Amino acid sequence: MPLKEKIDLSKLPRHIAIIMDGNGRWAKKRKLPRVFGHRAGIKSVRETVETCAELKIEVLTLYAFSTENWSRPKTEVNALMALLKLYLMKEFDNLMRNDIRLNAIGDILGLPEAPRKELLGIMEKTRTNKGLVLNLALNYGGRQEILNAVTGMIKDKVEKADEGTFKKYLYTSLFPDPDLLIRTSGEMRLSNFLLWQSAYTELYITEVLWPEFRAKNLYEAISDYQKRERRYGGI
Ligand code: FPP
Repeated sequence: MPLKEKIDLSKLPRHIAIIMDGNGRWAKKRKLPRVFGHRAGIKSVRETVETCAELKIEVLTLYAFSTENWSRPKTEVNALMALLKLYLMKEFDNLMRNDIRLNAIGDILGLPEAPRKELLGIMEKTRTNKGLVLNLALNYGGRQEILNAVTGMIKDKVEKADEGTFKKYLYTSLFPDPDLLIRTSGEMRLSNFLLWQSAYTELYITEVLWPEFRAKNLYEAISDYQKRERRYGGI
């Protein structure tokens, strides 16, 4: 039976988050510069986004650039920013056709002007789309997000913080917590991604490198997720 048919459409994760890792290793294996790996990763982004839209997943959060990624060589950072802008420009029609709403989490004001303008422009133009929310984590760090939320609460003189109040100050305030977090290329860490939100998230680690990640790998992850019993600390 094809993998797609093994998926129970009545038990889909509402929110899928992905750490897209392994672009550099993919390029190295082919003796290519790292940037070629990022470029190849765009195809995986496109296929993953389309598949999630087709499955009617509510939110897909992709870790595209972390607050730590600035420490990479300037040429790589510049290439990633250029790729982001290019992806957004090329993808706009596709987003509209698939009723996808673009959103971003992270310190967006800290991005260079060209990708930032493109991003904010498309977020505005897709604002009323009703399908999948494509949520790009850009200049994002989980600890920074938590500190940002605390600072916001202090400013608003919140005296007693409960989980519901705290959530309102996070970048993801409008979204459910991720049900499934996928990490490609085998590493077993969260790398400062959605630290608060992933408290009860099911983790799925695959050895597949991000540029090789395709719809069938996503189906595999969802199918694995559907076999798990989520207890949220209960019995
Ligand atoms: C991690 O691989 C990947 C990144 C830091 C960037 C991810 C970016 C893309 C897939 C392309 C742009 C994205 C969008 C949404 C337009 P790595 O370089 O750390 O790989 P390695 O661990 O093998 O070195």
